[in-house]
Amino acid sequence: MTESLDLFSAPAPVDKAQPAIKIKALRDQLNQWAHQYYVLDEPTVPDAEYDRVFRELQALEAAHPDLVTPDSPTQRVIGAVMDGLAPVRHTVPMLSIHTETDTEATGAQAFDARVRRELGLTDADPAIEYVAEPKFDGLAMSLRYENGRLVQAATRGDGEVGEDVTHNIRTIRQIPLTLPEGVPPLLEVRGEVYMRRADFDALNERQREQGGKTFVNPRNAAAGAVRQLDSNITAQRPLSFFAYGLGAITPSAEGGPVFRTHYEMLQTLKSWGFPVAAQVQIAVGATELVAFHQQVGASRDALPYDIDGVVYKVNSLQLQRDLGFKTREPRWAVAHKYPAQEIATKIEGIDVQVGRTGKITPVARLAPVFVGGVTVTNATLHNLFEIRKKGVRVGDTVIVRRAGDVIPEVVGVMPGKRTGYVPNFRMPAACPVCGSAVVREKGEANHRCTGGLFCAAQRKEAILHFAARRAMDIEGLGDKLVDQLVDANVIRTLPDLYRLGLTSLIALERMAEKSAQNVLAALEKSKQTTLPRFLFALGIRHVGEATAKDLARHFGVLDAIMDATEEQLLAVNDVGPIVAKAIRTFFEQPHNREVVEQLRACGVTWPEGPVAERAPQILAGKTVVLTGTLPTLSRDAAKDMLEAAGAKVAGSVSKKTSYVVAGEEAGSKLVKAQELGVPVLDEAGMLELLSGQGV
Ligand code: IVH
Repeated sequence: MTESLDLFSAPAPVDKAQPAIKIKALRDQLNQWAHQYYVLDEPTVPDAEYDRVFRELQALEAAHPDLVTPDSPTQRVIGAVMDGLAPVRHTVPMLSIHTETDTEATGAQAFDARVRRELGLTDADPAIEYVAEPKFDGLAMSLRYENGRLVQAATRGDGEVGEDVTHNIRTIRQIPLTLPEGVPPLLEVRGEVYMRRADFDALNERQREQGGKTFVNPRNAAAGAVRQLDSNITAQRPLSFFAYGLGAITPSAEGGPVFRTHYEMLQTLKSWGFPVAAQVQIAVGATELVAFHQQVGASRDALPYDIDGVVYKVNSLQLQRDLGFKTREPRWAVAHKYPAQEIATKIEGIDVQVGRTGKITPVARLAPVFVGGVTVTNATLHNLFEIRKKGVRVGDTVIVRRAGDVIPEVVGVMPGKRTGYVPNFRMPAACPVCGSAVVREKGEANHRCTGGLFCAAQRKEAILHFAARRAMDIEGLGDKLVDQLVDANVIRTLPDLYRLGLTSLIALERMAEKSAQNVLAALEKSKQTTLPRFLFALGIRHVGEATAKDLARHFGVLDAIMDATEEQLLAVNDVGPIVAKAIRTFFEQPHNREVVEQLRACGVTWPEGPVAERAPQILAGKTVVLTGTLPTLSRDAAKDMLEAAGAKVAGSVSKKTSYVVAGEEAGSKLVKAQELGVPVLDEAGMLELLSGQGV
């Protein structure tokens, strides 16, 4: 809060000057809060409080239209639509900067050596002080303030003449519209408008949802937003700003600040409310420049915004003047680039890859390019939708991005480079790994292989699922063992598990005879199972435990399920068209049927019976909640028994609960049951109920 004004005290008697004073106080307060929020990243009031004061200002301004000024916080997003962008001649040209792409050491040393030579220094002279800054990957902007008010914002253009984008720049909350008192009467702040990566991703996501154009990278998105004719559009594209220099400046009436160094100037800009990057620091001599290049390069992918290098600037403004310019580049600054994270190359073909879960990913085979520090020959295209949306075809020149350890991706097609007709990419109908049908479900972006446990690409995942506790419950068959077994090619399909012998297990690294015997015993034990467990273990898409139980209850025998039509499947409780189709597709694959047959041949069995023989559904329509530890039955066993009798087993107690079965250490669920008057049973009571003589 500003020192001298108390916004929350009772209103003083109204006189003529009152609204103007009040308006100023409200604006100062809002500007201060906005600066804390947008620039310092340190919100000091709840959003609701900001909104309340904002509305108060809006109301006051509405009552006094003559007091509305363009620098009021209320005027940031009320944008006029322009016919075109007007040219602006820069009073001080916006220069470009010499670029070094050499290695860390040679790039920085070459610059330092050049500066020393130009200044006529010898080895005996002390090291030069520099300011090292990130090189932001956005677009250069010149902000002109007259008497502390933002009057014009212009793009760089050709360096001499840029474009007037004031209406759009006003929407950027990080850019102050007014400056504190005492700033020079004329001040041009130069810096970079950019878009944070998270904001960019969110924007593209939104554009995608609304069927709008997506952007290839944050820089393009920022440039597009800045050059909009309608600032209402810009206001919806979250832009940010970093100050890194000055254009024209006149000293203030009182003599104004005369800066001695670049660093001091940046600190002053910061104190006036401009965002200055936290990484900016003083570096002495070439060695520290090299260190800075390394340090920022290492944290590059962790920064919330894109940079394409670092900039070194001689710190002393006097030395800057001594060094001067060469054509349109200052001799006192250099940009030292990092390897590009984006580069153009040609797509030579499109293959598909099958993931652990059966997801089919189209992958572009590229003419090899050096990007993000490595040679890249493949890049993901994500899925068929992305290919269509981006309009990617074989032979196209595309932009490939590789940031850090992230998988390289094709971000977009360079327009106008296609020569002649190229057919659209089509998803293969059969999985390239196992030959099973490839399908895409309604409402899903990804295609999938239906091979499941038969597909080599999905083998490890399928085996782990098969062995899981709630499936076949094969103790000791975990991640590491499955990796070893599959990698050594000992296990190719699920039935191979039951063909494992002591010799092949002991042959594995770090497998003692005792553990091998335990695994074999666990496998042997797992052969006696139940139909729901077996069905669940097969890993049919969308068939979880509950559906497996429903299917088993409905059909009674596996063969009936394997041969059921979609229509018959739809008759099962909770089975809809998506699940029915998934089950159908799974059992239509001859190799999946083969796997089931072989498992049976290996001795996997479960009690089966015609539907009529299933347990009487004495608890049909009842909902039961289990809580606490029962004396003899495990939670799973109790659940199975209740469900077999037709009950629904729920996780929480409500008025609709029919019974709560409580064991030892039952907690809040028991209390709730008592409150609601729901009958509570112990294990014996439950068994009595199941036998048909209960409550
Ligand atoms: S100083 C006279 N500092 O790089 C030197 N430029 O050609 C003027 N850039 O498009 C530029 N980060 O927008 C400077 N920390 C930084 C920068 C930076 C990015 C951009 C600038 C311009 C290009 C310079």
